[in-house]
Amino acid sequence: MTNSTIETTARSTTNLSVTEAIKSRVSIRKYVQEPMNQDDLREILELASRAPSAWNAQTWRFAVVQTPEIQEKLQAAAYGQGQITSAPAVIVVYSDMEDTLATVEETAHPGMGEEGRTGQRKTFDNAFGGQDVAQRGQWGLSQANIAFGFLMLAARSKGYDTVPMLGFNPQAVKELLGLPEHVQFAGLLPIGKRAEDGFPQHRHTVERVTKFF
Ligand SMILES: Cc1cc2nc3c(=O)[nH]c(=O)nc-3n(C[C@H](O)[C@H](O)[C@H](O)COP(=O)(O)O)c2cc1C
Repeated sequence: MTNSTIETTARSTTNLSVTEAIKSRVSIRKYVQEPMNQDDLREILELASRAPSAWNAQTWRFAVVQTPEIQEKLQAAAYGQGQITSAPAVIVVYSDMEDTLATVEETAHPGMGEEGRTGQRKTFDNAFGGQDVAQRGQWGLSQANIAFGFLMLAARSKGYDTVPMLGFNPQAVKELLGLPEHVQFAGLLPIGKRAEDGFPQHRHTVERVTKFF
């Protein structure tokens, strides 16, 4: 959903490489108080939407909140975490596996024609027809999590900062945004320009987390 009444700022001219984006991304919880450029926001969402997914299912869905009154309620649902209202926008990333299944022909590659659409329907009905909503929802979430990662790096590459968040009450967020009961959240993502440095990255070494065979 777009909000044409939101005043906007100049488009970003930043285009960091993937390496630069990864190395400079840190969680930011205090943001410059200016609205998001709406074209940048769309570009970042479009880049995230290029994430891969099994059978090209594209289970992710985005809800973009840029209305201060809704951000205040979202903050309450996130146990008062201040970054929700400090950021000019919050992208709620969730997976909707039931919508994915209902419209699965849309995800067949157009080059494969009607056969591709029928095949896509069969694939998904075979794989998920016997599963319950929660079980297949979990599969959908694992796809949406990939887009969540892409989203953070796309934002950084365009010069924006974010903080991924799972510290919220999912039921409260569903009610606030009118989302169906079956959706599963990848997370909330406040986004904007940093007004603090954040903590330097602190990570395990490659040796600590890797076995080479
Ligand atoms: C899935 C996920 C959930 C998180 N939830 C929260 C959260 O609710 N609140 C918060 O302040 N930070 C949250 N974080 C941020 C982490 O604390 C942060 O990513 C981690 O400490 C590494 O720091 P960095 O992001 O600055 O590199 C979350 C991160 C991830 C990936």
